Amino acid sequence: MNNNKWWKEAFGYQIYIRSFYDANNDGIGDLQGITEKLPYLSYLGVNLIWICPFYKSPMDDNGYDVMDFYAVDKTYGTLEDFKVLVEEAHKRGIRVIIDLILNHTSDEHSWFIESRKSKDNPYRDYYIWRPPRYDELGNRKEPTNWASFFGGGCWEYDEQTDEYYMKIFSKKMPDLNWENHQVQEEMVKVAKYWLDLGVDGFRVDAVAHLAKAPFVDSDMPTNYRYTPDWGRFSNLPKLHEYLKMMRKKAFSGYDLMVVGEVGGGALVEDALKYSAPEEEELDMVFNFDHNWCNNSWSAKDRTELKINVPHLKEMFDKWQTGLFGKAWNAIYWLNHDQPRVVTHYGDDEGPLHDRSAKALAVALYFMWGTPFIYNGEEIGMTNPHFKSIADFQDVSFITQYYLNIQNGTDPEAYIAHASLSTRDNARTLMQWNDGLHGGFTKGTPWNLINENYRTINVESQIKDPNSILNFYRKIIEIRTKSPFRNIIIYGSYELIEKEHNQIYAYLRRFEGRNLLVLCNLTKEAATVDKLPYTLEERVLGTMDKQININKKMVLEPYEAYVLEIKEEI
Ligand code: GLC
Ligand code: CA
Repeated sequence: MNNNKWWKEAFGYQIYIRSFYDANNDGIGDLQGITEKLPYLSYLGVNLIWICPFYKSPMDDNGYDVMDFYAVDKTYGTLEDFKVLVEEAHKRGIRVIIDLILNHTSDEHSWFIESRKSKDNPYRDYYIWRPPRYDELGNRKEPTNWASFFGGGCWEYDEQTDEYYMKIFSKKMPDLNWENHQVQEEMVKVAKYWLDLGVDGFRVDAVAHLAKAPFVDSDMPTNYRYTPDWGRFSNLPKLHEYLKMMRKKAFSGYDLMVVGEVGGGALVEDALKYSAPEEEELDMVFNFDHNWCNNSWSAKDRTELKINVPHLKEMFDKWQTGLFGKAWNAIYWLNHDQPRVVTHYGDDEGPLHDRSAKALAVALYFMWGTPFIYNGEEIGMTNPHFKSIADFQDVSFITQYYLNIQNGTDPEAYIAHASLSTRDNARTLMQWNDGLHGGFTKGTPWNLINENYRTINVESQIKDPNSILNFYRKIIEIRTKSPFRNIIIYGSYELIEKEHNQIYAYLRRFEGRNLLVLCNLTKEAATVDKLPYTLEERVLGTMDKQININKKMVLEPYEAYVLEIKEEI
């Protein structure tokens, strides 16, 4: 690819504002808190931040439920604070992207307040309203049997007009009707407003769901009351018209990047429709395929978690090779909706915590695609130990917890199992130091902090040259500034050792130079046969050892390297 763009060469960092840093000590992270931590982000070396929503919101879903797209929620600060943040970030060469939430609003948004008033309200058609159905006994039923992502059905009954509105997330997040041209115009205005304020682009939230299938029941077999047939509102053809419209009317004329969240059901073929440059829609998408390559849906508790390396390789390989040369890619381990990667795939509470965090970083950050670190990942933060339902904040978890408990599930067992995948794992407070509340706030924090903040925190890792944090800094430096940078950003990707159960290894090739990435991603030693390359330079490693790739190797648990090699011996 010869059309270089700043966003192909950027190293991103995602900030969950609520949990990042609380500058005014009211217990909630805020915009000023981010501004105060910009020196830290420069020290880390990233040059792009994605800030999670800070729009005015009743916070049913921590701000993804927007009440006013033009206002900053007062818990996060003011519009002025945001402008300062953008200006200060730009001074440091850090670009800023924010969430653009197109699929839904809060039920407290003025459009919805109007919409629900009457069937002939001018805003009625901004949302998706359908009359009830009735069974043979005359009981009222939803317009379709489709499930919602957050538990229960995807329709909510509204007495006032005796109709249901669609909500594929929480009942406080009604879906917008994208067939309505006024809705489209409103969203163009919203996007341009923030671009004109200086943001460098967007992470488009839940973008795969803008178009809905005709409202007929799903006949997908299920044991649940509502059918989790996500295809009814995911990756449907019509939404590409909406995105082409957004590109043309909202995004053109700005030097921006747009990354869409396309979720679990999206195939590589879908991604090409979203992000191949000739489609003129998005610049890249986040897929979820590598997020569940372990047994977290069946494990009883965290002691049973086990990474599935072949599955993980297959998932990454699909996207690394399927998009190469055709569309740009985005890479990440986790975001605010995923468990902490060291717990999920590494050795979170064992002696190999640090080394596993580093090996995971090596495996990911030398692939091609714009990388995003999620705040706290760079110090190896882990899932907390949730004890009771009171420890959870996430509307999705809480909704599903009560549905399960009503159906007779044992609460303790449910928490031990379901907390392996809960979104709250990633939302505990950022661990800045070993002081009060991990240095996040001097007030009363809105959420839990992981007890391990006394040993896992930014301050102590800054001082330790062998820390995970300093390892991440090296990776970022290599990827953004070193002579290897072009190989990592623009080189091709080829998986090797495909069948190996423990090893993730791949080659990157660019203009006659090659990198070999070789990682043991398991807790056990792994044997690798000699490789047919000449070692030129050891670029990075998780252990202080020399490696000889020309004889049979035994890699210790989480031993991982980036090596420059020549292909002929
Ligand atoms: C996306 C966000 C998630 C949010 C949902 C609804 O999946 O990442 O946090 O709950 O969209 O906006
Ligand atoms: Ca605050």
